[in-house]
Amino acid sequence: MKPANEIKILLVEDERVAYRSIMRMLESHGYTCVGATSLADAKNRLRNSAQDLVISDITLPDGNGLDLLKEVRNYLIDTPFVMITASEKKGLIQEAIRLGANDFLTKPFHLDNLPTIVERNLIRNKINHLHNRQQKVSVLIRTIQALIAALEAKDSYTSGHSMRVARHARLVGEALHLSDDDLFTLELSALLHDIGKIGMPDSILNKTSSLEEMEYKTAKEHPVVGSRIVGKIEELRKVSANIRHHHERFDGNGYPDGLAGEAIPLFARILSIVDAYESIVSARSYHAPQSTEKALCELEKNSGTQFDPELVAIFTKLMRSDDTRRVPRLQIENELADDDIKEV
Ligand SMILES: [Fe+2]
Repeated sequence: MKPANEIKILLVEDERVAYRSIMRMLESHGYTCVGATSLADAKNRLRNSAQDLVISDITLPDGNGLDLLKEVRNYLIDTPFVMITASEKKGLIQEAIRLGANDFLTKPFHLDNLPTIVERNLIRNKINHLHNRQQKVSVLIRTIQALIAALEAKDSYTSGHSMRVARHARLVGEALHLSDDDLFTLELSALLHDIGKIGMPDSILNKTSSLEEMEYKTAKEHPVVGSRIVGKIEELRKVSANIRHHHERFDGNGYPDGLAGEAIPLFARILSIVDAYESIVSARSYHAPQSTEKALCELEKNSGTQFDPELVAIFTKLMRSDDTRRVPRLQIENELADDDIKEV
């Protein structure tokens, strides 16, 4: 949680004595406080600066705390709201609960309880925030899984291809000491790299003979189609560019944009290598699976022309070393495993 001095609390109280004592108590615990003595003043302060917590009296000179609570819940859904109220006003308390008040400070109050009330609401809010984030990640991952399953259902030869490409991409990413966030982006880019093929006719996708000119033109559209699909999902914006460029060549003769060298995003350069490797060692409608060594030699043959030579050197070294069989587990697999445990 943030240090106390970075936590901003809005106190809305028109009774001078109560205002001073609450403010003094909050500031003695290090919180950064702003005060308001009316509903209009409080609304104004909320519009000008985000607050981590609001403490408001239910009775204000120009309205009441319930109106403020309604306003807060309109656009600051998660901000904890503590209502100061008199114990005899049961009906108002129930109304405040219905409107989303999180806690109450009942007059006459013992100010000693205030720090605990503040802290438990900040902690509860933090837990809710983490839970919501986890749920978002979970939905995102299951959506990705469904997209990959839909793609692979079109072509039995590519079953498991995205997952294997992702594992090898992660292997290279770990060798480059990428951060966890970047590794996850690389992993998602690999899982979704061919998602644009989802709209490709089966007659082209599964064709065993070489493609006609028009068919080849259609097939070459999949990086652009894929990056457009993924680009619509805000959380996957970084992934979109890697998908668009995974068929660029280091010498500039690839597609769709003919980018060359380091103008091609690093993750797209990694994908192009591990995608080619995985295609060579797997059975395809147009070829039988080849050995690991043959695939690595093929990458080396095209190093500097099709592929980034430094990345080819890293990947081939990794694949020829003894511990390459230790293919890394994907973060997406961990997230799904965590989800399954929670669902039991
Ligand atoms: Fe592709």
